[in-house]
Amino acid sequence: MFEYDVCIVGTGRVGLPLALSLIESGQKVTGVDLDENLRNSVNGGTMPFHEPGYDELVASKQLQIQPKPDDAVPNSAAVIITVGTPLHNHIETDLSQIQKVLSGLGDHFRKGQLIILRSTVAPGTTSYVKKWIERNTDFTVGKDLFLSFCPERIAEGVAYTELRSLPQICGAEDDTSRDMAGDLFANLAPEIMKTNFITAELVKLFNNISRYINFAVANQFALIADNFGANIYETRMLANHDYPRCNLAMPGFTAGTCLRKDFGMINEWSPYPDMLLSAWKMNEFTPAMLVDQLMKRTKIHDSKVAVLGFTFKQDTDDIRDSLVPKLCRYIERQLPMELRVTDHHLSDPILEPSAPEPIKNWAVSDALDGVDCVFVATNHTGYKDVLVELGKKHPEAWVADIWNVGGTDQIYYQAGILAGEKVNQ
Ligand SMILES: NC(=O)c1ccc[n+]([C@@H]2O[C@H](COP(=O)([O-])OP(=O)(O)OC[C@H]3O[C@@H](n4cnc5c(N)ncnc54)[C@H](O)[C@@H]3O)[C@@H](O)[C@H]2O)c1
Repeated sequence: MFEYDVCIVGTGRVGLPLALSLIESGQKVTGVDLDENLRNSVNGGTMPFHEPGYDELVASKQLQIQPKPDDAVPNSAAVIITVGTPLHNHIETDLSQIQKVLSGLGDHFRKGQLIILRSTVAPGTTSYVKKWIERNTDFTVGKDLFLSFCPERIAEGVAYTELRSLPQICGAEDDTSRDMAGDLFANLAPEIMKTNFITAELVKLFNNISRYINFAVANQFALIADNFGANIYETRMLANHDYPRCNLAMPGFTAGTCLRKDFGMINEWSPYPDMLLSAWKMNEFTPAMLVDQLMKRTKIHDSKVAVLGFTFKQDTDDIRDSLVPKLCRYIERQLPMELRVTDHHLSDPILEPSAPEPIKNWAVSDALDGVDCVFVATNHTGYKDVLVELGKKHPEAWVADIWNVGGTDQIYYQAGILAGEKVNQ
């Protein structure tokens, strides 16, 4: 009856890997996306962003992405919505992409279809979608149209393995919707866990929020240790070592398109100042902490400063919601002689929406030439070698290395110790 098993609406960093993995699991899949560059890339057989494991699948051109839902949606047994759900500037989810999708799709829904919401959403959003459908179409959910919230819990960069290894949560308010959703993922996920809308929404948020809080505690402990003149890496190692009731995380920049945003989604519904907001404050303070603590050791004013890495996490080309632009702004407030940014996962210039102009992306060796201070802002693979080279050429240069990329077990150090050089403190 339907030409396609699945239509994915919004084939970005979540929708595209899912579409390709479903194809590999034997389903016939099509997609809809507004982004012309993305469509041209996928339809031409090339991945539009870095996500390992999918090059061959995309090159087979079995997935074709349409600009409009007109043919794809009415001809698909299931429709999976994976558009973006950013935060407004306030503590509030921006639902506009989901609302636009619903108004664009409403006329194209067909009796018997399964609609799956997979974007990460604030608690209660799937109920909102149910009410929207029942007000704006002739269908009743659970009777002639079926609806489930099936959260995506992959991490960028490992989507290919995690889509096949993570249990799939399927939340619905009726058995048919729950079973249809479970069947759709049955050939992909190793285990299907069935529940209701709100629990499925909360599982996704709690997964990310608990990580966000763990990292906030780690950052706070890094600050406390430094203020007492102690070494956070040694303290953490001793606290964790063979002690079963402690699992302290490493300090680091904690933001990105999922953790901070999803954290905001739960706070949207908390009418009181709570411990969750303290975690937000700590993670958001980390760039300022690095600048402040480095300035206790050396000066940034009138110095040449380099920032290694710009993306929100290791080995990705995704800059959404990265804390590095914030770090750069704090450095710039100290009026360095020069600030050079380098990230080999990005092209030149770096187009960062909050920056007043495109940011020059230096080649790493040029960025580090003659520098006085280096901030290791992202722990990309290969930066250890870069730092060792820095130590040979500029042993006196100060490094703020919250990720412990240099392996010195110190956040702040002079590069020479990486190359076994003596440095004048
Ligand atoms: N990126 C991750 O690692 C990750 C992991 C788990 C969950 N999520 C969640 O998944 C959702 C999608 O995130 P993403 O990273 O894939 O975002 P994305 O921006 O990479 O992809 C969203 C896509 O939707 C398209 N789009 C927007 N409006 C549309 C419309 N009306 N019709 C058709 N296409 C439209 C955009 O062009 C874009 O390609 C978000 O809710 C996010 O929180 C993301």
